[in-house]
Amino acid sequence: MTLQKDSWGTRVGLILAMAGNAVGLGNFLRFPVQAINNGGGAFIIPYLVCFLLMGIPLLWVEWSTGRFGGKHGHHSTPFILDNMDPKRAFWKYFGVFGIFTNVAVAAYYCYIESWTMSYVMHSIMGTFRGMSQSETADFFRSYVDVQHSTTGIPFEAIIFYILCLLLNTWILSRGLKGVEKAASIGMPLLILFGVFLAIRGVTLGTSGATEAHPNANALDGLNFLWTPQYDSLTNPKVWLAAAGQIFFTLSLGMGSIQCYASYVRSKDDIALNAVSAGFMNEFVEVVLGSCIVIPIAAGFLGIDWVKENAGFGMAFQTMPYLFQNWGPMIATVAGVMWFGLLFFAGITSSLAMGTPWMGFMRDEFKFSQKKGAWTFGAVVLAMGLPTVIFYNEGVFDEYDYWAGTVSLVVFALAESILFAWIFGMDKGWKEINQGGDIKVPLIYRFVIKYITPLLLLAVFIGSVFTPAGNNWNEAIQSLFSGNGWPLDNSSLIKMLTNAGLKEQLAAASDEQVISTLKTKIFYTNVARLLLLSLFVGISILVYIAYQKRQKRKHQQA
Ligand code: ALA
Repeated sequence: MTLQKDSWGTRVGLILAMAGNAVGLGNFLRFPVQAINNGGGAFIIPYLVCFLLMGIPLLWVEWSTGRFGGKHGHHSTPFILDNMDPKRAFWKYFGVFGIFTNVAVAAYYCYIESWTMSYVMHSIMGTFRGMSQSETADFFRSYVDVQHSTTGIPFEAIIFYILCLLLNTWILSRGLKGVEKAASIGMPLLILFGVFLAIRGVTLGTSGATEAHPNANALDGLNFLWTPQYDSLTNPKVWLAAAGQIFFTLSLGMGSIQCYASYVRSKDDIALNAVSAGFMNEFVEVVLGSCIVIPIAAGFLGIDWVKENAGFGMAFQTMPYLFQNWGPMIATVAGVMWFGLLFFAGITSSLAMGTPWMGFMRDEFKFSQKKGAWTFGAVVLAMGLPTVIFYNEGVFDEYDYWAGTVSLVVFALAESILFAWIFGMDKGWKEINQGGDIKVPLIYRFVIKYITPLLLLAVFIGSVFTPAGNNWNEAIQSLFSGNGWPLDNSSLIKMLTNAGLKEQLAAASDEQVISTLKTKIFYTNVARLLLLSLFVGISILVYIAYQKRQKRKHQQA
């Protein structure tokens, strides 16, 4: 059996796998933090607008691009893109992003996934029982400080990381069937666990208030999120955050959707399937994702604490402590459900990240499924170990920025231009609607051609030139008064030069701080070198594959 002839077993399996690809750690860890940091209700409108004008259209673009590629025997973006514009040689190298991003994101994403495995174990073992809030937070800090960890298991972070990669690789080695099976077990369980925790979150009310936190009220968390604030509509910072979240949560601009869709049979629907998977992701993100961490944290610690401390670490540093308020039995159940839910969300996404590499190696180098899966596991291990060992030195964050943020936008912008303007809307629209169980509203022809690429361009430019303090009004005034455009340290330009770290270094006088910053700059550069090597390595493989194809063509002629 060859992968080229592989296709999804059932329609439900396909939708669950695609939804599983989208539903991930981003839904439960990233969404609540983005929402809180961008003003709660102020975030929701731009978020929903981005979903409709960028998310849904790009889903159709990626699904149809993938199925089109599959018809011609391509299961990864280098040759899918090449086939859409054979006249220009560079597209296949642009398509490298569609493999590179998956490998690089999988490297650090599987690390978070491995935390969830370990935290399920610790919840069952009762490790967090009796710990104070700061002790629970310290446990996490110690866990990720691999060199000085005191969690009780030597090198625990590394062991769980390797276990997590082995599990991913083993499932991948079973091909699409393995992925489909994992999604059909993981997704229902995830929703079940999510519903249980969401019910606890929204019914908590003021029952968690204590002397230390007399104003704690879970409903404050929900009100903060769901009271729309229209003034945000003119704030580019919120729009950029909303667009970034839509990308990450729907797994857009990665290349994994195209790969999954390349196994859809050529006459089968994609129009309805794409929106079904997209809406399923939104249900999990907007409904379940907003009813767990925020209300539970607001219900015990108060909304002001949540606003001040909102961060990705809340899920691991605070939640296990809060669960203890429900008594040892429910704390264990809630811990298993919370980290179990995160695990299922994570693994159904990381599996999707393995398939473009496997598809490429199979199409071009005749790798078996097993060989494809194990080589993927090996590359991810090599790329990922530095994120584990040098987590505190910033390797993890560097991967997240370049691979998990910038690459997505660059690739999505390029593919949307290719689809609408080079492949052409006539052909593109036909591809989207072919075999469709719904008729895609005609307005989306206009949206895909003009609005989506323009929005993507705006997002890209916004990230390159993010103004100081994210204050666009001040930056515009400064520009017009002749003082230039003040760039923020988070802008792509300044990130490129490590400006933020260098500024801190220049201002530092303490020897210890200076040495820490120098180490951080060093590891940031190491991380970039690794990412660059990965990109170049995959580009070389694409070049070799291209040469092989040319040779075959000449032999046949
Ligand atoms: N879409 C995946 C997530 O949200 C990558 O985590």
